[in-house]
Amino acid sequence: MIVAGVMSGTSADGINVALVQISQRKNHSLALKLIGHSEVPYPKNVRTAVLRAMNAKQASVADLARLNFLLAELYSQAVLVTQREFQVRARLVGCHGQTLYHQAEPGLFLGRKISSTWQTGEGSVMAARVGVPVVCDFRPADMAAGGKGAPLVPFLDFLIYRDKKIGRIAQNIGGIANLTAIPANASLHQVFAFDTGPGNMVIDAVTEHLFGRSYDRDGKIAASGRVLDDVVKKLLKRKYFLRKPPKTAGREEFGREFVKEFVQLCQPAEKQDIVATATALTARSIGESVRRLVLNKKGSYSEFVASGGGTKNPTLMAMLTNEVRVLGLNLRLSDEFGMPSEAKEAVAFAVLAYQTWHKRPSNIPSATGARKSAILGKICYA
Ligand SMILES: Nc1ncnc2c1ncn2[C@@H]1O[C@H](COP(=O)(O)OP(=O)(O)O)[C@@H](O)[C@H]1O
Ligand SMILES: [Mg+2]
Repeated sequence: MIVAGVMSGTSADGINVALVQISQRKNHSLALKLIGHSEVPYPKNVRTAVLRAMNAKQASVADLARLNFLLAELYSQAVLVTQREFQVRARLVGCHGQTLYHQAEPGLFLGRKISSTWQTGEGSVMAARVGVPVVCDFRPADMAAGGKGAPLVPFLDFLIYRDKKIGRIAQNIGGIANLTAIPANASLHQVFAFDTGPGNMVIDAVTEHLFGRSYDRDGKIAASGRVLDDVVKKLLKRKYFLRKPPKTAGREEFGREFVKEFVQLCQPAEKQDIVATATALTARSIGESVRRLVLNKKGSYSEFVASGGGTKNPTLMAMLTNEVRVLGLNLRLSDEFGMPSEAKEAVAFAVLAYQTWHKRPSNIPSATGARKSAILGKICYA
């Protein structure tokens, strides 16, 4: 079955589409073949609107409702364009949607403790435009089962990285950075995962704020700056970094408020030093997470497999190489496993949709903290 996976992450840079041929082997495991993938940037005004909606304390209900329908049109177009490019048609779509809000830790609301999450991008509109069923809204079912609703990519990580002899840590560096730990010879319930902290989110925000560019292309600005070690050390003592998994982060933790404080902490400094320090914060928080929260546990690991937009930043990758080398891990790229860095999360949502379509669960309770496995998402029929 050909499934289209659609992902738009917290960076709000755009839409990734992956067309995946998925079939079931005799032993019930899944065989995947990536047929093609593409990346469609959000138009600038859409990106601005999405970022504004994510950061808003208050937003207009009308605008949020319209954004839900508008994003669905853009997602559908992205799928149709990709299908045309690779001359295939998917029979099913899995669309993550754009996260506007994610609160994994229950908080008091109107007298009740509530955790909640919201991914926007109307599945019914997509089903109508693409002409096939669409699975969307993957996270709530895991939360309803007591999980944090994230991360969901570990299901794919287990599928592609599990090895009898080689333990692997799969690290995705999107807006937020998250890892999946798959010890050698792991069974599904031994897999665990969590968000290590900021990926590109803080780097992007300070680059925008100080240089008026949406990201530090090829890590050039960071390479020209000096890392303020004291700032990194101080920030690594923050509650989020010390907390034990399962844990998830988003703009609520590393968005506008954090960035404001971060820039203040760096003062006085050259502008490029602030970008260098943000880059180091990502690398060091990943290194520390691996050391304190993965390698201290049972299980052997020898490889660290990176993916996501952050792998395109050579300054960040150089810092990360140093971090994992001292931990005795070999840094590899997901591309070496036939999974292009930028397509991996889109592939994951194709696989999750395939599971849901077949009425099979795809959350990993040991990764999300859920009490039980759950069939994820909602199906919209064409
Ligand atoms: N050439 C590049 N140089 C530096 N950073 C890059 C480059 N290409 C992509 N990135 C970074 O990757 C981010 C997008 O990563 P992505 O994996 O799409 O994240 P998300 O899943 O949050 O959308 C961009 O915002 C940018 O920070
Ligand atoms: Mg993206």
